[in-house]
Amino acid sequence: MTDPACDLVLCDVHLPDGRVADISIRDGYVVHAGAKLPSHDQLSCRGYTVLPGAIDMHVHMRGGSQRGKEDWKSGSMSAIAGGVTVVVDQPNTIPPLTTPEAFQARVAEAGEGSRCSFAINAGVTAGTDIPALWRAGAMAFGEIFCAPSSYAEGVAPDVLASALAGIGEFGGLATLHAEAVAPGEPRDLASHSRQRGPAGEAQVVRDLAGAGHPCRLHFCHLSTASAIAAAGTASVEVTPHHLFLSYEQAEATDTQFKVNPPLRTETERQRLWTAWDRIDVIASDHAPHTRAEKAVPFGDAPSGIPGVETMLPLLVAAYRHGMIDLPSLVYKTSWRPADILGIPRAGLNPGDRADFALYGTSASVVSADQLHSRAGWTPYEGFPAVFPTVVIQGGDIVYREGEYSPGSPCWYPGRGFIP
Ligand code: DOR
Repeated sequence: MTDPACDLVLCDVHLPDGRVADISIRDGYVVHAGAKLPSHDQLSCRGYTVLPGAIDMHVHMRGGSQRGKEDWKSGSMSAIAGGVTVVVDQPNTIPPLTTPEAFQARVAEAGEGSRCSFAINAGVTAGTDIPALWRAGAMAFGEIFCAPSSYAEGVAPDVLASALAGIGEFGGLATLHAEAVAPGEPRDLASHSRQRGPAGEAQVVRDLAGAGHPCRLHFCHLSTASAIAAAGTASVEVTPHHLFLSYEQAEATDTQFKVNPPLRTETERQRLWTAWDRIDVIASDHAPHTRAEKAVPFGDAPSGIPGVETMLPLLVAAYRHGMIDLPSLVYKTSWRPADILGIPRAGLNPGDRADFALYGTSASVVSADQLHSRAGWTPYEGFPAVFPTVVIQGGDIVYREGEYSPGSPCWYPGRGFIP
């Protein structure tokens, strides 16, 4: 006989509409919201903000020969400790994920090491067999690089056009890294931001969005309000670093703030917040590099900022400071990425995936020595942040006050997957 009891009940959860309910969970899904059902375990949520687990749809988990920067274990522990229960890995790995064999090896590597659930995107270069990668389980294609970046060459316009046509044939999603790079050798953060300037970024977005491509487009990590305004009907993603950091906050040649697209001026950063309602997705572009790799002359340093663990804590602190509301935070970090990718939503209603993070009332600040990424540094040192106390994945408590427990993370293949 099957056990009629639930696995876990979250007691006294404050629902967005103001009601207080008990959330009963069985087999990884919410089965009831109301009075609690009989259960093997329960957790009091009084005094906590209970949010659906976040989907970070833009991370670079490294691994392989880049495991000194990060691997699936350290990167996913970092995700979980930041309230992120699903990550979407980008294909600019070594080797890049442009063949079914490399893609399958990446799925196996993630399956062995990851403590959070994951999806994996496929890369696009000249000659990539796009239908084969779709059948191998690619969640989406990209980030497709319109300009060179760390561990990626820019894709030529004709290659991009034919890739978008191919992706459109099976209703796939193309995710785009839109930038234009002027010639020159940037010596500091300001000249880096000019070389990969806001006008060029917005123009690339405008050209792609206006070209009527036969596939769904998603613009990654747009850095200005004008680039967002140029995106037409495509979905747009923004990172915490473009929302919370400007290059004017840093020393002129601080390589820890070097990222593509670059950080902008303080004025541009503040203007980005005015586009909040148009932003579909907040994703971290978690791109860890070691301190040693960053401790080189500005022009030689790799671009990228680690951020999967600090994304929700910075945003929850912003919510507590009255800068954003809770429904939009949940939408942009969990529900909208789920809908764009076709992953079931996490949430508080029957049938929802039972992934949650519980945020207590005590505020703290970001400190690199509390974080789990192998990068070992953060540009947000001292920023106000609210870290989750408890994280639940698939109905299992996988993280509690700094201690991890095993869960049942899974791979979310794309719709084209043929086992
Ligand atoms: O700054 C960046 N770093 N931008 C990218 O597009 C790639 C990323 C990386 O992988 O390091």
